[in-house]
Amino acid sequence: MRHRLLDEKESVLQSLLSVQNISKHFGNIHALRNVSLDISPKKIIGLAGENGAGKSTLVRIICGAIPCDSGEMKYQGRPYKPHDVSDAESLGISVFHQEIPICPHLSIAANVFLGPTIPSLRIRPDWKFMNNRCIELYKKFLDEDIDPTIPIGECSAAEQQLALLVRVLSRNAKLVILDEPTTALSAPEVERLFDSIKRLRDEQGIGFIFVSHLLDELMELSDEVFVLRDGENVGHLYKAEFSAKELSRLIAGRSIDVQHRSAKGFAEAEITLEARSVSLSKSYEDISFSVHKGEVFGIAGLQGSGRSEVISSLFGLPPPDKGSVIIQGNDLGRITISKAITAGVGYLPEDRKTKGIFPDLNIAKNIGIVSIAQSRDLTSYNEEEYIKLVDTMAGKLSIKISNPKDYISTLSGGNQQKAMLARWLALSPSILVLNEPTRGVDIGAKSEIAKIISDMAEAGCTIIIASSEMEELLLMCDRIMVMNRGRARIILEKESLTRENLFFYAMS
Ligand SMILES: Nc1ncnc2c1ncn2[C@@H]1O[C@H](COP(=O)(O)OP(=O)(O)OP(=O)(O)O)[C@@H](O)[C@H]1O
Ligand SMILES: [Mg+2]
Repeated sequence: MRHRLLDEKESVLQSLLSVQNISKHFGNIHALRNVSLDISPKKIIGLAGENGAGKSTLVRIICGAIPCDSGEMKYQGRPYKPHDVSDAESLGISVFHQEIPICPHLSIAANVFLGPTIPSLRIRPDWKFMNNRCIELYKKFLDEDIDPTIPIGECSAAEQQLALLVRVLSRNAKLVILDEPTTALSAPEVERLFDSIKRLRDEQGIGFIFVSHLLDELMELSDEVFVLRDGENVGHLYKAEFSAKELSRLIAGRSIDVQHRSAKGFAEAEITLEARSVSLSKSYEDISFSVHKGEVFGIAGLQGSGRSEVISSLFGLPPPDKGSVIIQGNDLGRITISKAITAGVGYLPEDRKTKGIFPDLNIAKNIGIVSIAQSRDLTSYNEEEYIKLVDTMAGKLSIKISNPKDYISTLSGGNQQKAMLARWLALSPSILVLNEPTRGVDIGAKSEIAKIISDMAEAGCTIIIASSEMEELLLMCDRIMVMNRGRARIILEKESLTRENLFFYAMS
């Protein structure tokens, strides 16, 4: 008996947070069923699973944003049932969500201290104290010197993430949860964030839960990985057991067959889109390329290379201020969204939350919205038609939807992304422009999307993809233009399409 008590005490002491048999449902969706996991202190715990597997739901329960239906949690050996996010924060558990919540016009220091307990001198904020304290906190936690007065909107995405990290650490966080923190970061920025996380674990003893779809990131950063599928625990691996094959098998429940598109030559094929010496002030300069019918053309480059700006210009967001874009032989002049759509162009934006979804509309309308807007007779809008469309697209892209009449925001992040893709696939555009098409999408669906893109190209659609993931471009594209500091460095084709070449031209 005494032994058992000692064992239990030992295991309680070893666990920073213990989640036991947690269940949660939304309507008829069982987001989590009897999920259990133990988070040891001073460890980075990876959390993996397909889109809709329940990762963010679990994170929201742990950080007090929503209650669970049943099950219990223990934090530092004591029962833990946070009333809300600030309750969890005051006990030392903090979370970063998929998007970075900042006030862009305020300084780094203001963003670090913002909240009910902002340091003040009588009725006004004590800026001097905040600036000095902010410098001390950066030194202590990140070993970095900064100017705390810079507006945070002028900082890179990685610097904004680090400011949020300092913010939660300054509130004595012992467990920090990062829900897909790297989606908006470039490779060197990811490295910087990871270095800081590892140092915080080793030097300050802080525990982390790290949610990601990228297997190499999960394996590099985590000490252990828990895998969820359909709201249930399906695996737990320690570092020594990590392999991409085993992880992807656990995540998808099957082995994933990744089919490389064999790059083709298109010199003889009809040119469907041509950019002639296009420039946009402060973004890119003198870019020219032509894309053929049935071709998949990639645009690679690091963050800030102009990659994203070039591709969004093809949809008029904003249009180039010099040069011309010619579609099916017609010079579009100054491109606007409606001119692009009329010319048969579909566009998937990079930032799903601000430029993609309509949060106040349901899933059916979000997917059908372009077709609805194009219909001249709005009185003939028939929701049932769109619900049928959702069913077809949900099957094609394996989107996890319980009711097409639910708000789009009830879908998991990756399923929202697939719904945005469905919006354009449904229109069968002749030119499809995709900016980061698989951001936040799970590995199984990534290979399905690659297959759909390849099939659409076979059927004669012209596809242009910009992506920060070099592997994804190599998987899908026939040719890839590599951008560097606003200029097109080279257009790689066939045998020169290698990972080494992409990195070389993107970085040198
Ligand atoms: N507020 C809500 N209302 C209805 N359903 C919801 C709500 N929040 C989540 N769900 C559903 O619960 C399931 C789990 O969603 P969750 O966001 O936890 O998935 P996830 O693993 O984080 O996926 P992703 O990798 O795509 O971010 C999904 O089917 C989702 O549609
Ligand atoms: Mg999620």
